Amino acid sequence: MSTRVRDAPRVATRAHARRVGRKTRKSGTSSSAGRRRRDGVARSTADDGERSTAREARGAQSRREALLRAASATVMATTTTTADAARAAAGAARRLQETYFAATSKAIAPERWYPYWWALPLAPYGSKATALAEAVPGEVWTFDQLQGLLDVLVNVRMTVARLEGGGLWVHNPVAPTKELVGMVKELEKRYGAVKHIVVGSAAIEHKIYSGPFSKAFPNADVWLPPKNWTFPVDVPLETYVPFYPQGSPKTLPMQSIGGEQNVPWANEIEHAVLQVGGSSLRGFKDPWFVDTAFYLKRTKTVVLTDVMEKVSQQAPPVCQINPQPLLVRAMDEPDKVPANTSQARSDGWGKTVLFGLLFNPNAVEFEFSGDIANDLLDGFKWDPSWRADFDALVAKPMFVPPILAVLAFPRRRDEVKRWSNIVTSWDFTSIIPSHLDGPFNATPDEFTAAMDFALTATPYEQFGANAQSLIDVDKLSVDLKSLEVPKPLSPELITPPKPAQEAVEIVLDAASEQ
Ligand SMILES: [Fe+2]
Repeated sequence: MSTRVRDAPRVATRAHARRVGRKTRKSGTSSSAGRRRRDGVARSTADDGERSTAREARGAQSRREALLRAASATVMATTTTTADAARAAAGAARRLQETYFAATSKAIAPERWYPYWWALPLAPYGSKATALAEAVPGEVWTFDQLQGLLDVLVNVRMTVARLEGGGLWVHNPVAPTKELVGMVKELEKRYGAVKHIVVGSAAIEHKIYSGPFSKAFPNADVWLPPKNWTFPVDVPLETYVPFYPQGSPKTLPMQSIGGEQNVPWANEIEHAVLQVGGSSLRGFKDPWFVDTAFYLKRTKTVVLTDVMEKVSQQAPPVCQINPQPLLVRAMDEPDKVPANTSQARSDGWGKTVLFGLLFNPNAVEFEFSGDIANDLLDGFKWDPSWRADFDALVAKPMFVPPILAVLAFPRRRDEVKRWSNIVTSWDFTSIIPSHLDGPFNATPDEFTAAMDFALTATPYEQFGANAQSLIDVDKLSVDLKSLEVPKPLSPELITPPKPAQEAVEIVLDAASEQ
């Protein structure tokens, strides 16, 4: 899933409060409260005698602030200010973010701290809580962390499966915090050592942790998909993140059965790699989007990264460990922070998902006052129609994310459908993707229906007026020749209606004519 702008405003808010708050605020209520919280954290750190921890935290803080300053400068340089001066700086949203910062500091939750977050500067910067769930009892487990930009945080998922002969198979590792490694070590005590670390995606956010994770499990081999590449500088991952105890990662074959080579887990897990080309990013020929479907045969579970998703009204548990970002995002307009209720968290999740999937949802307006740190926090005004847009997504049994359905797949509909046909030849009952819901119930027929809809319906039919921004990007990309002109699905690949369905339609037609 594409993600957005989220955790940074919290950092920006602090930096901004220090720079601006002391000069301009009369009451100082929020800034002094913020200082008290920061002082409290500093005192507890010193009391514990953790001077190096404090130094590292300050270093991380200054790196986060530098990142935010750079981001703000970029936005300032490209956006027209209305100079509608200074919406009051100290709002409820800012105080919520200060609370979130305090709750996710290294001093408060050292087991969740990931010091190398700057290698992939996505939020949350530093603290990465993990939510563990048993997806299939005694067989499959999911480990969710958060990932995003500025104030839009969604879950990103690692999946672990038990191997028949003992040991563990790990898919798309997430940040190896002390908390996460401890959770996996507990599984190792019951089911054996981590044997294989497998990445199914070319997206940097799904593969960058494979090296650091493998350092905690040095006897495991690491597998990356073929024609793997790195954006924006296309260098081998093992050069960019040189932490692979076993040397260079191995290359996943295109298919585990009937392919050009086999993999050690092929008797219990099949897989098929999807490669989508058609962008100037990769010279049009090589794939710019890569995903892999893995079929865990014993549990009838398909594990994949981004291709298919499902969303529910309530945010996944990892989003609710520290729910302040959901409450900030739930705001309908500046300074209207709701109380921490189940409904408010659901509203915040709905708006987060709309931002994350659609980038520029139809129901939101961004009000730019010139105070970018505040604007990115609470400068959004939502039309009530956002709820119907979110409900429409929740109602779908599953869906191909808009960015893939509108920008990526139209270039290679036939290749996508052939890959989908391999997936639907498997007898699965559930899917675990790397974002949003997972696992969710799914059959091959339902997967086919969702994929065919993505490959044959127009963007408006799939996502309504919310598709407009991506349609504009698509048109511009074609005009600039950075994306190929879309190709329709070949007629021979269109799924014929099922006989039973045809019979039902004939009966219904006959009934309606009477
Ligand atoms: Fe993703």
